[in-house]
Amino acid sequence: MTGWVVTFLVLAGVLFAVKMTYALSVAFALPVTRGALYVSTPRKRIEAFADAVVIKPGKVLVDLGCGDGRVLRCIRRRFGAQAIGYELNLLAYLKARLLCIGRRGISVRFRDFWKADLSDADVIFCYLFPDVLPDLSTKLGRELKPGTVVVSANFAIPGWHPEKVQRIDHRPYSDPFYIYRMS
Ligand SMILES: C[S@@+](CC[C@H](N)C(=O)[O-])C[C@H]1O[C@@H](n2cnc3c(N)ncnc32)[C@H](O)[C@@H]1O
Repeated sequence: MTGWVVTFLVLAGVLFAVKMTYALSVAFALPVTRGALYVSTPRKRIEAFADAVVIKPGKVLVDLGCGDGRVLRCIRRRFGAQAIGYELNLLAYLKARLLCIGRRGISVRFRDFWKADLSDADVIFCYLFPDVLPDLSTKLGRELKPGTVVVSANFAIPGWHPEKVQRIDHRPYSDPFYIYRMS
């Protein structure tokens, strides 16, 4: 009986610690992330996005708020591209670092992407809160070179005209990707 109680208390303690880490990670990151919570894009959708873009080996993809790094791993595996992710939610960052251990060509950075120079990117991926997209469009317009592809999951970038809107015909995965090319 005592064994069960101890097991229960240990499990409850671990669960509590994970929940607290999640809550604190969100709370500390929130002033910078401005509403973008750590919510992952489903893998099925990431594969569909990868079907829609062609990235040559060695080209650079940057995920602005990379969560657990799943976009980075998919793009690295599918295309041999260099994949860079910025993430400020500590739990997401640690998970991404853990899941990317031993994978060359992937760099996960605990940094605010607003302070990063994105001019080397060939493809930008983002899944962010719509409120930040107007400011993001200014930053991307200033820094990206012509031809760079920008992919925004779920939300259109205001005032930009997508080259393609891609979605899979499969609920609950049917939210769109807006795909743009810098001129
Ligand atoms: C909706 S999640 C998307 C995660 C991942 N890109 C995916 O599609 O699975 C957005 C992430 O962006 C991160 N984020 C938002 N603003 C950020 C910033 N300024 N710098 C770094 N990360 C940021 C949040 O912490 C959150 O984990």
